[in-house]
Amino acid sequence: MTAPFPLDTIRAMPKAELHVHLEGTVDATTLLMLAERHGVQPPAEDVEGIDEWYRFDGFPMFLERYFTVLGLLRTPDDFHLVAERYLTTASEQGVVHTEFHVSATGHIVENSKEWGPIHDGIVAGCTAAATATGMSWALIPDISPHLAATDCLNAMTTVLAHDRRHLAAIGMGGPADTWTTDDFVPIFDLARSAGIPAVSHAGEHGGAEEVRFAVEEFGAVRIQHGIGAAQDPDVLKLLVDRDIACDVCPGSNLALAAVGSAAEHPLPTMLAAGVTITLGSDDPPMFQTNLLDEYERAWRWADLDIDDARGLCRNSLERSFASPEQIASWVAMLDEG
Ligand code: ADE
Ligand code: ZN
Repeated sequence: MTAPFPLDTIRAMPKAELHVHLEGTVDATTLLMLAERHGVQPPAEDVEGIDEWYRFDGFPMFLERYFTVLGLLRTPDDFHLVAERYLTTASEQGVVHTEFHVSATGHIVENSKEWGPIHDGIVAGCTAAATATGMSWALIPDISPHLAATDCLNAMTTVLAHDRRHLAAIGMGGPADTWTTDDFVPIFDLARSAGIPAVSHAGEHGGAEEVRFAVEEFGAVRIQHGIGAAQDPDVLKLLVDRDIACDVCPGSNLALAAVGSAAEHPLPTMLAAGVTITLGSDDPPMFQTNLLDEYERAWRWADLDIDDARGLCRNSLERSFASPEQIASWVAMLDEG
């Protein structure tokens, strides 16, 4: 039987969070505040109602509501608020570095917003939190595969033209049915030519071929979720051979029915195959979770011990896009623990 989860010990371990969506960090209180700020009718009247609204029967229902929340983020102050709030709570969980996915094309293409003020609001919020907590952060603007590739290319061109200093990578996330299309390859190539690596969601609801495609065609150096890889030993081997980490979010996978039950989650299979795993919370208040809850799920579902948990923290630091010197100092802190 798995030992009790040592919450305080794991909270104290320095760790990075590499898979969390800025727009998915809007908790019920913040959502109500944003709706009032913009004179918009919220989807429910109170915190309990929003928390109930944050329960989904699957991925399409989640995406529809995620987009409603995304639409409430309008001004630089809105972005400042949510970024600062999330980093502050992450710091309380022992997070020393966060890489925020930002649904850039949701704002730019679907909501006709300019990237500059969004970016600058996020940077101001992250900077305020970093000053207060000492933590570090970076941004991963995402494109979405349900949009026209030309629109995503134009959006990413404006993103890359603005201020690249805080961009760790560009990513892809959103509805999954149009994933394996070559149309998006030039966008990742463009970013790479500017020195910005690619990551991608893949194998969340889709299968192993989606993961292979993201690695081989997009050149993704980290995969968000990637659990579909467990369906094909060759794709697991590809991840190991190319040393590609998967940023897995067990609570999200259960909340969105990407797996039918905890017992069916492929985390143990991926670990046994030697895939490097980091844990993320994806869209934490929407899935009634936080990063420490994700460590607890992994602890129980994959029957981990304290060295395994420390290994997951180490992976998260080592696979981050922070500087090698910064990573070495965090890992030393973890090992001194
Ligand atoms: N954007 C926010 N959450 C996501 C998820 N779980 N999968 C794909 N895109 C997302
Ligand atoms: Zn995600």
